[in-house]
Amino acid sequence: MKNIFVIIGSAQQNSSNLKLAKFLAKHFSGDLHFDVFDELRNLPHFDAVQTLGDTPGIVQQVRKKIENADAVIISSPEYIFSIPAGLKNLLEWCVATTVFSEKPLAIIVASADGRKSFEEIKLVMKTLGASFTDEACLLINGVKGKIASEDSIEPNTGQQLIGVMQHLRNLI
Ligand SMILES: Cc1cc2nc3c(=O)[nH]c(=O)nc-3n(C[C@H](O)[C@H](O)[C@H](O)COP(=O)(O)O)c2cc1C
Repeated sequence: MKNIFVIIGSAQQNSSNLKLAKFLAKHFSGDLHFDVFDELRNLPHFDAVQTLGDTPGIVQQVRKKIENADAVIISSPEYIFSIPAGLKNLLEWCVATTVFSEKPLAIIVASADGRKSFEEIKLVMKTLGASFTDEACLLINGVKGKIASEDSIEPNTGQQLIGVMQHLRNLI
């Protein structure tokens, strides 16, 4: 069974991005193992001095999970026309490492609009060396009207999410 590490970029309770991750985990439960990480709030603020040696334990754990996963999904909203700070913080903690190098990746931005965040995440992940294709990237705008719960997703959006997973599988 392949291991998929999912990073939720939202800082909100009742997150649509978390709901879609749970939908995918349930849909693919027969052949993929999902480890959904929704704790970006617990990571300390990036500190370049600490990357030289004394990296905080929780950062080391998350880096290990990324490194050991067969594939990673980033699922995030957009905050003030950009990448949410919690997600950007994790990516900064990873920049001086190789954990994302050649890592099969899907990028999902589910947001009110999301276009800027979508482009920024793709640019950052390209810079970090992750392996992804256009087909493994999905922008879901107007998310509140499309995802009510993990069991209630607008059918076309559900199909798009499943399609992204099929492309991610091809990258593994
Ligand atoms: C601090 C903050 C800033 C936001 N800024 C944007 C924005 O610039 N663009 C956008 O599409 N949505 C923005 N939103 C709305 C989010 O898209 C919306 O809350 C979405 O549901 C968040 O995803 P989540 O349900 O997974 O938390 C913002 C929300 C918050 C809390």
